[in-house]
Amino acid sequence: MRPKEQHVTVSHPGYSDEFYSEDEAASAPQEPAAEPLNKTHDTTLAANLEAVRMLGLKLPTDPRWVNVAEKTIEEILTDHAFCEQKAATMGVTLIVKFSDHARLVDEVTPLVAEEWGHFRKVLKELKKRGLNLGRQRKDEYVVALHNQMRKGGSREQTMMEYLLVSAMVEARSCERFRLLSLYCEDEYLRKFYYEFMVSEAGHYRMFIDLAKHYLPEDQVKQRWEEMLVAEAEIMASLELRGDRVH
Ligand SMILES: [Fe+2]
Ligand SMILES: [Fe+2]
Repeated sequence: MRPKEQHVTVSHPGYSDEFYSEDEAASAPQEPAAEPLNKTHDTTLAANLEAVRMLGLKLPTDPRWVNVAEKTIEEILTDHAFCEQKAATMGVTLIVKFSDHARLVDEVTPLVAEEWGHFRKVLKELKKRGLNLGRQRKDEYVVALHNQMRKGGSREQTMMEYLLVSAMVEARSCERFRLLSLYCEDEYLRKFYYEFMVSEAGHYRMFIDLAKHYLPEDQVKQRWEEMLVAEAEIMASLELRGDRVH
């Protein structure tokens, strides 16, 4: 039986500057990278670790969230599995909506495969623990992010909204996975989440780079800054729960 849902409310006192060095990165487990269809995006581990440093989120998660999350790891795994499913689904949506944008199609296609690989990996972890996937929970964070997307602009501007919201979900997921990879007591889980952290950092960079490829850089930077402020407000309005990735 699953444990009763546990909620935690903590302040956001700022967070550790403990980042990964490249030496640590070299000794960390790595998956063979899927062969990208398009070589314009730098997929190296060093580039992804640099992205973790540069997330720029305005409201850091209290690292004590990890202590609660680790106690409800089964709940986190179910929520995590659906986060991966939503990432894959969003990738397909982007490809279908903007199918005439060759670079987007080339770069998002392998991302969909990677996100589905993540889904399978989390599903395997649930099975290993004798658990099934269970039902999806309402994702208040993603719903709130989508609600602040601007409508009515040009097609390129609409694409930017999609790309930046996708980048934001990747950035926050990366931030949370980083905390799990640093502070979980269980060494196995630290390694498990390290791999997700690196991968989502790469996706975050890819979405930002795509936006800058199709729109003027100033416009992307300005909108990203606005979204970072909105995202921080959303995070502050949500209860910090040990049974949710976001
Ligand atoms: Fe993922
Ligand atoms: Fe991702």
